[in-house]
Amino acid sequence: MRLSEKLRAWARRKSLRMKTFQKSNQETMTLVYTDRLVIRRPRQEDLQAFLAYRNAHENMRLQPIERMPHAEALKFLAKQAELTSDADNCWLMFAIELRESGGMIGEVGMYIESGSKRTGDIGWSLNRAFSGQGYATEAAKWLIEYAFGERRLHRLTSNASTQNTGSIRLMERLGMRREGTTRESMLVHGVWHDEHRYAMLSTEWHG
Ligand SMILES: CC(C)(COP(=O)(O)OP(=O)(O)OC[C@H]1O[C@@H](n2cnc3c(N)ncnc32)[C@H](O)[C@@H]1OP(=O)(O)O)[C@@H](O)C(=O)NCCC(=O)NCCS
Repeated sequence: MRLSEKLRAWARRKSLRMKTFQKSNQETMTLVYTDRLVIRRPRQEDLQAFLAYRNAHENMRLQPIERMPHAEALKFLAKQAELTSDADNCWLMFAIELRESGGMIGEVGMYIESGSKRTGDIGWSLNRAFSGQGYATEAAKWLIEYAFGERRLHRLTSNASTQNTGSIRLMERLGMRREGTTRESMLVHGVWHDEHRYAMLSTEWHG
């Protein structure tokens, strides 16, 4: 069964609404509609919306990332647009759009390790103008369904600086378990941060 057929079958089982369209020289792209969001693969046209949250001070403040220059961001989005949704051993990012108004407001994504571990590390980022309304939670729930459903992963992990209360609250809202705290394991703009490490097994996910 082709990937897009498998995704549609899985979405029917999960009652997610999906629409596919064929783009020349690309895989069949799949849009996923959750209650309020469209989730899709990113594209180069997302550049301005992507940079608006990616380089915002409040988004970089508690993450080990530096400002991404315009040219690098274009290359990054071009590479993401080429990845097929069954890619592994790379960051696989999904754009979040509002169904009502369109336009990218943030992202969810995961790094899937290939091989027998069947583990993925998940993450998220939202434009601050759209926070506090449950959009990241809604997109992350889809990502978890996708990871355990379509990708058949066994375990998902996510880590955040102990100061990153937004991300920690999100992990807990999703039902992830805190497995521990590592001392000074994340270097953020020259300062060592402790990290809370969270995980969830497929058997622990109840939607
Ligand atoms: C992590 C991040 C995406 C969380 O954003 P967020 O807006 O708090 O998350 P959501 O969109 O899910 O919104 C949840 C909030 O909206 C509220 N909310 C309102 N309506 C809601 C709804 N329908 N469903 C769920 N929550 C809702 C929740 O109560 C919650 O508020 P609270 O945290 O004060 O309790 C955001 O802080 C961010 O982009 N941070 C910078 C990037 C980053 O650090 N990423 C993580 C790297 S480890």
